[in-house]
Amino acid sequence: MKWVIGNWKSHKTIQEAIEWVEEIGPHLEKHPGIEVAVCPNYLALPDIRKAVQVGNWPILVGSQDVSAFEIGAFTGDVAATYLKPLVDLSIVGHSERRNLFKETDELIEKKVQRLLVEGITPVVCVQDDQTPIPEGCQIVAYEPVFAIGSGQPDTPQNANEVAKSIKQKHGSELVVLYGGSVKSDNAKAFVEQSDIDGLLIGGASLEVEEFNKIIEAVKSVS
Ligand code: PGA
Repeated sequence: MKWVIGNWKSHKTIQEAIEWVEEIGPHLEKHPGIEVAVCPNYLALPDIRKAVQVGNWPILVGSQDVSAFEIGAFTGDVAATYLKPLVDLSIVGHSERRNLFKETDELIEKKVQRLLVEGITPVVCVQDDQTPIPEGCQIVAYEPVFAIGSGQPDTPQNANEVAKSIKQKHGSELVVLYGGSVKSDNAKAFVEQSDIDGLLIGGASLEVEEFNKIIEAVKSVS
């Protein structure tokens, strides 16, 4: 099984998000070897979820973050309990959150625990094979900081070595994705690698045509 997850970051209005999913959804056929997911900002989640459900499209929906706390006096946060009806998965510990918002491994661990309690799948971003991976986590994304948004991806061979090392340390059943400047013209080279189970895609997930091309590239090897 190969994963293709779009991370829109702080892009797209609600209307733009709906247009994207309405363009992709009807043409996406369920493929046994591939799981497609999209992670819009919080505001667009309810509409995206609804569109996917009504259309019965094979797209999972995820958030880009979650509160480390339960429901309560945590201004600005969104509790996992409230995300539960809207999402299947949630990105946690993206390097932008670690660097710009000073998130620590301890905080990320708490977020993962909150997600697991609510039955939401965490997708934990790690920067190398040394980053701690919280207990219970089944999907991680190796995203080297130099490759994010830079147009300078890691090499597929090196990404595979890191993915392999992560699996050796934390268990071969772990799903390991690669993220960082993935585009339609390099997607295949990554997912062809033995230990890379899919892609986490930022910039290239914003455009329907480019994202579709990535899905096709991944389908060709799965
Ligand atoms: P990018 O971002 O594909 O734009 O490099 C990847 C990510 O940050 O998840």
